[in-house]
Amino acid sequence: MSIAHYFDTMDYGSAPEADGEARAWLKRHEATFGHFIAGKFAALASGKHLATIEPATGKLLARIAQGVAADVEAAVGAARAAQLPWAKLGGHGRARHLYALARMLQRHARLFAVLESIDNGKPIRETRDLDVPLAARHFLHHAGWAQLQEREFADHVPVGVIGQIIPWNFPLLMLAWKIAPALAAGNTVVLKPAEFTSLTALLFAELAADAGLPPGVLNVVTGDGATGALLVDNPGVDKIAFTGSTEVGRLIRQSTAGSGKSLTLELGGKSPFIVFEDADLDGAVEGVVDAIWFNQGQVCCAGSRLLLQEGIAETFRRRLIRRMETLRVGPPLDKTIDMGAVVAPVQLERIKALVETGVKEGAEKYQASGAIPAEGCFYPPTLLWNVHPSSTVAIEEIFGPVVVAMTFRTPDEAVMLANNTRYGLAASVWSETIGLALDIAPKLQAGVVWVNATNLFDASVGFGGCRESGFGREGGREGIYEYLKPKAWSGRTARAKLPPLPEASTEGAGFGTPSIDRTAKLFVGGKQVRPDGNYARAVLSPKGKPLGEVGEGNRKDIRNAVAAARSAEAWARATAHNRAQILYYLGENLSARSDEFARRIGELTGVSPAKARAEVEASIERLFSYGAWADKYEGTIHTPPLRGVALAMHEPIGVVGVVCPDEAPLLGFISLVAPLIAMGNRVVAVPSERHPLAATDFYQVLETSDVPAGVVNIVTGERDALAKVLAEHDDVDALWVFGSQEASTMAERLSVGNLKRTLVDHGLALDWYDRAASEGPILLRHAVRVKNIWIPYGD
Ligand code: NAI
Repeated sequence: MSIAHYFDTMDYGSAPEADGEARAWLKRHEATFGHFIAGKFAALASGKHLATIEPATGKLLARIAQGVAADVEAAVGAARAAQLPWAKLGGHGRARHLYALARMLQRHARLFAVLESIDNGKPIRETRDLDVPLAARHFLHHAGWAQLQEREFADHVPVGVIGQIIPWNFPLLMLAWKIAPALAAGNTVVLKPAEFTSLTALLFAELAADAGLPPGVLNVVTGDGATGALLVDNPGVDKIAFTGSTEVGRLIRQSTAGSGKSLTLELGGKSPFIVFEDADLDGAVEGVVDAIWFNQGQVCCAGSRLLLQEGIAETFRRRLIRRMETLRVGPPLDKTIDMGAVVAPVQLERIKALVETGVKEGAEKYQASGAIPAEGCFYPPTLLWNVHPSSTVAIEEIFGPVVVAMTFRTPDEAVMLANNTRYGLAASVWSETIGLALDIAPKLQAGVVWVNATNLFDASVGFGGCRESGFGREGGREGIYEYLKPKAWSGRTARAKLPPLPEASTEGAGFGTPSIDRTAKLFVGGKQVRPDGNYARAVLSPKGKPLGEVGEGNRKDIRNAVAAARSAEAWARATAHNRAQILYYLGENLSARSDEFARRIGELTGVSPAKARAEVEASIERLFSYGAWADKYEGTIHTPPLRGVALAMHEPIGVVGVVCPDEAPLLGFISLVAPLIAMGNRVVAVPSERHPLAATDFYQVLETSDVPAGVVNIVTGERDALAKVLAEHDDVDALWVFGSQEASTMAERLSVGNLKRTLVDHGLALDWYDRAASEGPILLRHAVRVKNIWIPYGD
């Protein structure tokens, strides 16, 4: 090629990165790997291997072991044996190890970057400048959390052995996101990397052992989904942390239900990228490049739905197409290319099929005209224009370099379109008007919002979603809590079974003037309403004396209560000051009627007058506590390494179902409802089945305390049947179940529909009088979700 040619085209030449060291590492292992268990590569239980293909060439790269039950068992055993000594090492000891892992990554940065590019197909520019440095930053940041653990998390203990399952799109970075916080907090890990991309995890485990990480602290078992499922089902695992598809996330939710394993799910997304007319359009065009063509669009939080305000849509389309033409697609090890290969043929076929569907459903397709390599899994940057919100490509996650565009007129319409998805992972908002951007950000159903930016990540800032994008956070203080459990909950024992109530006695019935019959109705939308079925159930004292009747709520009543709670959405926007005042007022009004409530509790439960009074006093105090917390359980400001901030906002989760235990019928009810409403949630509560009158008497306190209609709804009846309806209801955002192990299992299993967050007690009794166990952040943490709003500033 002549120099004149280069002057004419201004084209880049190729600048391939050397891959000698990575190939030498593969050769050293004869390109065949076992699992990494207890500090070394272990002999395989089955001897079966899977092929790992190089996506850019289609050639065989290595063979990795297919983990079977015995391999998983060995790895979990090694992790279990290491867990106590690792926890006992103390924060500083673990900090030293995490620091050593960060340094190890930095020392071998090029090797990791090259191996990752070869294995995954992603450009070296990204692995070198993003994946590896961010992974190192993660270990460094979490070395800090280990160092501070004993002071900052003194009231928590490690969860134990953690099973972690990660996808193929960011193999090393996801490994770091998973294992750094888990190890920092004193847990040990069995990691199952994705079958397409296990090599950097194996390299990491090997070099971590060389760097002195004790055997068993980190174990890597490779294999496909079947190996993952074995890890999920292994009884020696205390928690599963999963990143991957929503479909598999659902399976995991189901199979861990009732096992007592805690769970975090980081699933798919269909994130909106909203451009307002007053945005810096060139900046936003560059943003789209980073949002959807970064990592070939194989990013869970990719800005894959482009929402453009009508006035600028045409200009934006032209500029975007012009920019697409300059993107270079080619061999991942070439330092000048922007997009590499997608991970595997199956993924390529999926992308092609979805794009075809989009076109059939009416979209205009634009693809960069530049050549893409004929061999390997390459797909060009693609824009689908004029996409209808109900089109398949506007709904399904494509997980490829394909952005779909649609327009809106007003900010309200933008929010509606943005939230018109079952996912809720991330969003990007572009406007030069700070007031507009910050007005929109909190209205978006997403765990992360970037203002005039996209795809920013940092170890200090929590990442994670809501709705079908899963639950839990990775990174930041909020991410550490996912790997700890409260000390105050450690010693709980199974709730004692209450003796059956005797038959209702008719003793005392005669010809005296009877008391006026009162059947407590349900409390829905601020009104006392008759139950749909028009049935009532008797409430008896422990001796069988009839004390009154309550409505027998059914499926329809729960549905009405959920609808009432949904429409009380203004409560989420009420000021914290306003919510605080109402909680204090509830306390004040309960106090005014404390004699009556004490008498009622005494009759219902048979406790002594002193105990009954103590329950009322504790309930009043609890209301005051949450009045206090309402404007004090605040978010934080993270300071990631950029010019800007990330606001970690505490947002209400939405509509929360609360199923209350039988013990302490008033205090238990208030202890669960008050933190939720303090944080702006609306509640559908099912009170104690045995002693519901304590909660139904509370209607009158609610009615006289300015609690807006629909904020607290109470449905009495058969507790487990009502809990089931709540668990299956897709408009319930979270469900708390305090009662039996069976109800807990059922709630977790049936929550898969909309992947609602659950907090269940597995039938373990809580001491409602112990503030450490039942009041404050221990519950408030479950009453909010953290939304991180990134606000970079400057030019
Ligand atoms: P996947 O969810 O099947 O795989 C993720 C990980 O889970 C892998 O390690 C896999 O071996 C493991 N796994 C699969 N089935 C399992 C099971 N039953 N129990 C336990 N572990 C299991 O994702 P896949 O098939 O690789 O990709 C399919 C689609 O998922 C993509 O097209 C994309 O839409 C989405 N996806 C989303 C990701 C995200 O970051 N949110 C990452 C990867 C895929």
